[in-house]
Amino acid sequence: MGLVVKKNLHLIRHPLVQHKLTMMRRKTTSVTEFRELVGEVAMLMAYEVTQDLPLTWTKIRTPMGAMKAPVLQGEKMVLVPILRAGMGLLDGMLRIFPSARVAHIGIYRDHKTLEPVEYYFKASKTLRGRDLILLDPMLATGNSAVAATDRLKSAKPRSIRFMCLVASPEGVRCYQKHHPDVPVFTAAIDQKLNSRGYIVPGLGDAGDRIFGTI
Ligand code: URA
Repeated sequence: MGLVVKKNLHLIRHPLVQHKLTMMRRKTTSVTEFRELVGEVAMLMAYEVTQDLPLTWTKIRTPMGAMKAPVLQGEKMVLVPILRAGMGLLDGMLRIFPSARVAHIGIYRDHKTLEPVEYYFKASKTLRGRDLILLDPMLATGNSAVAATDRLKSAKPRSIRFMCLVASPEGVRCYQKHHPDVPVFTAAIDQKLNSRGYIVPGLGDAGDRIFGTI
């Protein structure tokens, strides 16, 4: 009931995620509330997004004796927020993965062409072999997410997952056409994109609502 999976598309229907997303969508929700909610939803989604991370066994001692216990296997994970709205998801994710590394990618949408333009990229040199989670609250046209994923794939990570809150059908199609191998995790797939590239009904401009630049 909590998760619907279709061809690498994971729809997270957990009631808490859905309830909080509805609160975020409301026009009357303040910047303070929106910011808190986006952090909470990120934390809740983190469980679903990372449910298949590989584990390995390590020997530990509890106060009662020795045992072999599971721990995450491999290098520290890397969280990759697409600037600027992706930053809204970062704090919540870092609460769950406090030792994750962070790579920033700055991509803006040219308002006329709606095409992505990369203006910033700062990551550790060692993305190779790591698990990456790309973060952007809105999968709208899909162009920015596709461009960011192209960039990340060139660094030869072990895996990439893409996490958003609201997707458009157009964005999902575009992303899956270019990167069918990358799982997409979203809390909603809305009706459509409008002519300005906004998701309808969506929640408006996520960056503006997180940073109060309305
Ligand atoms: N980016 C947003 O913040 N909102 C949309 O609806 C589309 C892209």
